[in-house]
Amino acid sequence: MVWQRPDGRQPYQLRPISFHTGFTRFAPGSVLTKFGDTQVLCTVSVSEGVPKFLAGSGKGWLTSEYRMLPSATQERQARELLKLSGRTQEIQRLIGRSLRGAIDFDVLGERTLTVDADVLQADAGTRTAAITGGFVALAHAVSQLVQQGVLERSPLSGQIAAISVGLLAGEPYLDLNYIEDVTATVDFNVVMNQHLGIIEIQGTAEAGSYSRTELNHLLDFAEKGIQQLLILQREAISDWDQLLLVN
Ligand code: CDP
Repeated sequence: MVWQRPDGRQPYQLRPISFHTGFTRFAPGSVLTKFGDTQVLCTVSVSEGVPKFLAGSGKGWLTSEYRMLPSATQERQARELLKLSGRTQEIQRLIGRSLRGAIDFDVLGERTLTVDADVLQADAGTRTAAITGGFVALAHAVSQLVQQGVLERSPLSGQIAAISVGLLAGEPYLDLNYIEDVTATVDFNVVMNQHLGIIEIQGTAEAGSYSRTELNHLLDFAEKGIQQLLILQREAISDWDQLLLVN
């Protein structure tokens, strides 16, 4: 049996991806991110000060909050339950860990960047869209904050993108939508930087197990997807060449 993708994509093909920067006005970074029918609003704000464990260190911090809106899924979910769920906690910690890899905290100084990822519509891959779009929002915020003189220089030291891959009928597929996500026997979320260095891999066998050969095949697909996302992210940031710190 071969898996027929519901939207007719090739196995290695991403959904239509878009980044609408400046989508809302008040946060310095704001990007509406679309991976097909998955839509995530990513905003980035800055505040003076850091959590207690960093006070006096001269270093800054980045943290993230993730939430689905009640009507982001087919059945309405209560706001309070969405806030408290373990899934929410897990995903926002993943977003924070991933995007901390993009910032030089000595350059940022004792300030905190907060990445808010709010899912308007969930058709799977919301965490990978939040990380990939969160990076664009981070670059957008840094650009605005440097222009406004809030930051003396850009603390952006890396580029981060993320994608999902999974096994369906024993074969790898890139960027799963919801139907594919619930059908997949193996489900991966992969986060990489601009050198295709691995930041994080979450890989779960929903049924049975997967082999080392399948793992390598899945990572090859993820890498191809991330290569494309890195290009699309740069295209979405007009002053990209001035933003990335060269160490
Ligand atoms: O969204 P992501 O793939 O990062 O995370 P997931 O936990 O694997 O969820 C996959 C998809 O299942 C979500 O994007 C939603 O479409 C759906 N979902 C849902 O409808 N209700 C939930 N409480 C959790 C997930």
